Amino acid sequence: MKKPIGIFDSGVGGLSILNRLKELLPNESFVYLADNINCPYGNKSKKEIIFFSLKNTSKLIELNCKIIIVACNTATTNAIQKIRERVSVPVIGIEPGIKPAINYTKTKNIGVLATEKTLSSKLFLETSKENKTHNIKIHEQIGYELVNAIEKRSFSRSELFSILKSYLTPMINKNIDCLVLGCTHYNFIIDIIEEILPKNIILIDTITPVIKHIKNTLISNEIINNSNSKSYIHIFYNNNPLPKEYMKKDYVLNYLKF
Ligand code: DGL
Repeated sequence: MKKPIGIFDSGVGGLSILNRLKELLPNESFVYLADNINCPYGNKSKKEIIFFSLKNTSKLIELNCKIIIVACNTATTNAIQKIRERVSVPVIGIEPGIKPAINYTKTKNIGVLATEKTLSSKLFLETSKENKTHNIKIHEQIGYELVNAIEKRSFSRSELFSILKSYLTPMINKNIDCLVLGCTHYNFIIDIIEEILPKNIILIDTITPVIKHIKNTLISNEIINNSNSKSYIHIFYNNNPLPKEYMKKDYVLNYLKF
């Protein structure tokens, strides 16, 4: 099926998913919505996050998308159920990788860096609760200001380094052996995070399982594009243009009201 894959986030974060997805699915076309007029989502109310998510979803359906990818942990953990109730196409979200972290940890201490509203969401709390039986401790940290900094590229590398160091040090001191990045924006600062983390602490990869799941869903729903027709990648924003540093050469960037 030639219809595009629809993706949304509050801004550039979901591009980290799109960048990998387009490599895995080169025949597919993509429509990406960066709802940057409402960014960040992470400190908004659940009601607002649901409202933005449904608005973005309706736009993607109007643009003829065959599947919706919620490339945002905050929108997934707060709104995925409402989105699924609204549309008949498959809907796939991104959740913080708590389960893989549970399977991995030997020290029984996991670190999670995410937005305020992801960490307080029912979905996140329920997933975390399961750990009680495993006797595993989850050490949470809200990534205050990180989304804005990544979105606007307003901080220097050394400023970001010291902010991140102050967020990560308490978790490192709690003997974590893995860290979950529960916000797609943070994929763009992985190099700084890795510089701060001691070598014995790994980052849990949440992108690879989700892109495989998307491919399998396209196959099982018989909506994968098997033809070699020319594909396109359209990126739309509804406030300031996204910084060009995040754009790949085949991305067509335009303003759209949504
Ligand atoms: N990229 C987002 C996430 O994964 C959005 C964060 C925000 O807008 O606060 O949670």
